[in-house]
Amino acid sequence: MVPNSHASVKDGRLFLDGVDLVQLAAEQGTPLYVVSESLVRERCAEIRSAFLEKYPNTAAYYASKAFQTLDMCRIVIQEGLGMDAVSGGELFAALKAGVDPRRITFHGNAKSTDELDYALRVGVGRIVSDNLAEVAEIERIAAGLGRRQALLYRITPGVDSHTHRFISTGSLDSKFGIPLDPSVCDLYMRAVLDAAHIDFRGFHFHIGSQLYDNFSHLAATGIALKLMADVKASYGFETKELILGGGFGIKYLPSDNAPGLSYFLDPMMALIAEKTAEAGLPMPWVAIEPGRWIIGEAGLTLYTIRSVKTIPGIRTYVGVDGGMADNIRPALYEAKYYGLLANKAGLEPSKTVTIAGKCCEMGDILIRDLGLPDPETGDILAVFSTGAYNHSMASNYNRIPRPAVVMTRGGGYRLSVRRENYEDLVIRES
Ligand SMILES: Cc1ncc(COP(=O)(O)O)c(C=O)c1O
Repeated sequence: MVPNSHASVKDGRLFLDGVDLVQLAAEQGTPLYVVSESLVRERCAEIRSAFLEKYPNTAAYYASKAFQTLDMCRIVIQEGLGMDAVSGGELFAALKAGVDPRRITFHGNAKSTDELDYALRVGVGRIVSDNLAEVAEIERIAAGLGRRQALLYRITPGVDSHTHRFISTGSLDSKFGIPLDPSVCDLYMRAVLDAAHIDFRGFHFHIGSQLYDNFSHLAATGIALKLMADVKASYGFETKELILGGGFGIKYLPSDNAPGLSYFLDPMMALIAEKTAEAGLPMPWVAIEPGRWIIGEAGLTLYTIRSVKTIPGIRTYVGVDGGMADNIRPALYEAKYYGLLANKAGLEPSKTVTIAGKCCEMGDILIRDLGLPDPETGDILAVFSTGAYNHSMASNYNRIPRPAVVMTRGGGYRLSVRRENYEDLVIRES
């Protein structure tokens, strides 16, 4: 069972949304990011049915850092979601794609003055802030523009999430968010409540990524609800908005059992209803920010095998024409991926091999111990679930041009991002 519900095998070849991936590789070259638009839209539909239509006064923002192209921005907006942007560049691209700025939440733990100025000038719906210096700047810029900026605080709930430490963001020792120590909290609350041009709405948390159990999400929700009761008691402030972040896990390996969205959201919404009623608070507007969950499983990467090298008694390295420049996650987080040969998709694995990237780093290993049916030079390897944090984290290390992106739907495909060429690599240089 491949970890992509829109992939299928026909006559020994792998297809995505009815598109023959071996033929696609021949037409577009490799490495190639391939994204199932149908699967992205299916995920958005699930967000609508499991959250937006089920619970009144809610919103969903696509965390565009996971994979941002103009095409993708348009798709998620058509599907009724808003967008989370975390830099001036992501904001620019979202606006260029036609996203209504009021549907954008602007994030970042070290936003520059230019970025804040840009976000306020274009009129982003909300800014999520996590430091005092920024609050003063937002107040100054908003005053200059003669308006009030909606703002939420990102809090550090002090919850350890069970994921790789580089994608765990909610524990006490984190660069993200404001610590909930009462003395620190007091400074932050006074800063926003005294700011005439800040419309303080409430709190945000994001505890980590690729989570399979709801324990950390629920613990963080409980902490945010306690804070909401405390700020009501201390400052008379009634929280109007609560953003629960993203982090919902997806399937990378055939053996992974990723829970559905409801598994996370239903108990969180029940807890919010229960605790706000207990504290005499109104039910807030609640939003989520999934990134990986929307795009991760929808993507796969096609590579061409360039070498097969057996070290007797040790291992067989299968070298492909991409690697850490197009997928940094195995090197960065020890992320695990699954793959199969698109041109031999009907055959049983006969060898256990290691998939090596082409970058000049020993750490450029895409997959360890993958079973494949007698891999040979020229075979097309499909690596699954590469939709999130691959294209968006890609680099030009070793001056490797970044791959193209195609989107598949209903038996056809379109080129969404063209492949970089060598001229692109030096275009900024004098
Ligand atoms: C503030 C915020 N929201 C949402 C996300 C999306 O997380 P995920 O892709 O795990 O859903 C992130 C990821 O880093 C984040 O920092």
